[in-house]
Amino acid sequence: MTPEPQSLTGTDPVPGPPPGCPAHGLGAGGPHRLYGPDAADLDDLYERLRDEHGPVAPVLLHDDVPMWVVLGHTENLHLVRSPAQYTRDSRIWTPLQEGMVKPDHPLMPHIAWQPICSHAEGDEHQRLRAAVTGAMSTIDHRNMRRHIGRYTQELVNDFCERGRADLVSQFAEHLPMAVMCELFGMPEEYNDRMVQAARDALKGTETAIQSHTYVMDALSRLTTRRRARPDDDFTSHLITHPAGLTDDEVREHLRLVLFAAYEATANLLANALRMVLTEPGFRAQLNGGQMTVPEAIEQSLWDEPPFSTVLGYFAKQDTELGGQIIRKGDGLLFAPAPGNVDPRVRPDLSASMQGNRSHLAFGGGPHECPGQDIGRAIADVGVDALLTRLSDIQLDCPEEDLRWRSSIASRHLVALPVRFEPKPQQDVQRPPSPAPIPSQRATWQTGTPRTEPAPAAEPRPMVPPPVPEPAVAPRQARRAGLWRRLLRWWRGE
Ligand code: HEM
Repeated sequence: MTPEPQSLTGTDPVPGPPPGCPAHGLGAGGPHRLYGPDAADLDDLYERLRDEHGPVAPVLLHDDVPMWVVLGHTENLHLVRSPAQYTRDSRIWTPLQEGMVKPDHPLMPHIAWQPICSHAEGDEHQRLRAAVTGAMSTIDHRNMRRHIGRYTQELVNDFCERGRADLVSQFAEHLPMAVMCELFGMPEEYNDRMVQAARDALKGTETAIQSHTYVMDALSRLTTRRRARPDDDFTSHLITHPAGLTDDEVREHLRLVLFAAYEATANLLANALRMVLTEPGFRAQLNGGQMTVPEAIEQSLWDEPPFSTVLGYFAKQDTELGGQIIRKGDGLLFAPAPGNVDPRVRPDLSASMQGNRSHLAFGGGPHECPGQDIGRAIADVGVDALLTRLSDIQLDCPEEDLRWRSSIASRHLVALPVRFEPKPQQDVQRPPSPAPIPSQRATWQTGTPRTEPAPAAEPRPMVPPPVPEPAVAPRQARRAGLWRRLLRWWRGE
């Protein structure tokens, strides 16, 4: 459908009341609420909005604050790649300037302007971002992959003898925090309390402020220590970068990086593992060797981007996007979730996206996620090592019982219960042992993504019947090859 051009904040040449105005009415043809009962299923709501309004639709945030949500893939890319037209600086947002957005608005933590690179633009953005990317460039990726493997082993050791686990609270939420504390140079701060504090601070519960203070205290102590005595870690390189960050700026950027890495990567790990456990085609392709773990992670980034939307971008001038008139001061939601399923780029959602990395999960333009390689490495190595150790892993509840905690910004799996045959602990300094690997695990792939879509494979049973010991050399050679590959991977080669 071709939508009628309209504008959010009135004073436009289009006849009739603007969307959001009570005279226009909510629902079909007007804006929909992105909260409350209307938004029980946000994916469904985005599709209705796409049908009614096209690639850019008017919506209402809490307290009926007007906003645009960008649904089209091309329009989302245009939004993030046009810094001359759109900024991430919320101080120019008309509803904020007019007092419509109260200080206790539930989305204020996402919207309120802060002196950090994700809200800055131009030279200031370049200065702050250069310090972050400069410090990231000093990370030794082979070492990092080794840490990810070791922490995965430790986490699996904590539950492998029980034969049951919740992969959200015992794995996905821990691994990114452990790795980030290591990269920051504060491995001693990684513990259950730190994970709980980060989870709590992001959920915005009553204890969120206390939890936030707990995390900030750790980051302040680290900043003071490294300012006095720099070492070879992310924090020290952030402090000593020629951009000359103040202690406050260092702390704020450590917080930004820690929370972005923790939340997004925990979501990515949980989503990818859920896909492997519940979608037989996915599992069969992995088992059959037609898909590698990195390819599976990439497919998950298409289907369930860890950040469904990013709040927000703000128009610096009157303009047009996706057939809508955007007024100076209007707010827009950059929206990877609906953008990734735009029928103009994905007419068939069941078609494999193997080899195609043009999803919106990491944003784009000047603010494109600088930590994507780190996030991908945590997910690739973590998922592969976990599946190598627990090759017979299965979902421990009916799929329909899985629950998500949804907000506009993200959709977070509450728990992912699994069961498997109890296994002995392993030495965390060794690569995940191939010894207990049943025959089908010999085909987990860790290689470079292929560019050709793979043919669909027949699903295999999770625990295959015993396979007679191979009498022929090729299978032994394949196993030896697997072992060598695992060793190479473990060494970070
Ligand atoms: C793996 C999952 C991750 C996803 C899906 C993700 C996604 C995103 C998205 C969508 C943005 C906003 C882009 C925009 O404003 O247009 C962003 C920004 C950012 N991310 Fe990530 N991220 C991930 C992991 C990480 C990690 C591991 C780190 C750090 C180690 C990180 C650090 C940042 C920072 C510092 C920004 C702000 C950049 C700026 O405004 O210039 N992210 N990320």
